[in-house]
Amino acid sequence: MNPVSLLESFFTRKAEFDIFPAGFDDCHDLSLLHAERFYQGWGDGEFHSLMSQSTVFGYTARPNNGISGLGGFVLAREAAGEAEILTVAVSNKYPRQGLGWRLMLAALRETRDRGAESMFLEVDDGNVAALNLYRKLGFRKVAERKGYYAAGEGQKSTALVMRLDLR
Ligand SMILES: CC(C)(COP(=O)(O)OP(=O)(O)OC[C@H]1O[C@@H](n2cnc3c(N)ncnc32)[C@H](O)[C@@H]1OP(=O)(O)O)[C@@H](O)C(=O)NCCC(=O)NCCS
Repeated sequence: MNPVSLLESFFTRKAEFDIFPAGFDDCHDLSLLHAERFYQGWGDGEFHSLMSQSTVFGYTARPNNGISGLGGFVLAREAAGEAEILTVAVSNKYPRQGLGWRLMLAALRETRDRGAESMFLEVDDGNVAALNLYRKLGFRKVAERKGYYAAGEGQKSTALVMRLDLR
């Protein structure tokens, strides 16, 4: 490849990602991405305190081609045979490239390894991307909480509680 093509490929090549267990060193990147994707961001300290709990675990997706930053992450909690997804987010830069899917699978695998029988999560009923992702993974609605999320200008939206059996 000539030097010009090499340089072009550096700037245009697609980021590929590896999935890693999340650690304390990730807390700052997690809070930046959380603030990018959610109305109410969580700070570094909140992530640090969550990750200090032995019941909490997570995964990050990081580009493996030299591009810095985080592609996405998931945090989950498992206790007494039940687990929940605390949060999952993929950067606006990498939508619909399978990162949410891969992160959720990593969390589900660990949840099963920890001996949990079911996984729960809550999702805004208007969040089409997340709902489709969860349904594709096999989650099914088990409850509804009307007026649960603040949806701007005094509006409230409905939270769906979803469950996946792991056994
Ligand atoms: C929800 C989210 C994590 C999905 O991440 P992603 O990496 O873009 O999703 P994936 O590429 O893994 O997609 C997996 C499946 O989810 C569904 N999906 C993802 N994005 C979608 C979209 N924009 N519209 C409709 N369905 C979508 C599809 O079923 C998709 O499968 P397909 O591409 O084979 O059709 C991401 O959109 C996000 O971070 N949203 C903001 C934060 C958030 O809402 N988190 C969930 C809170 S409960």
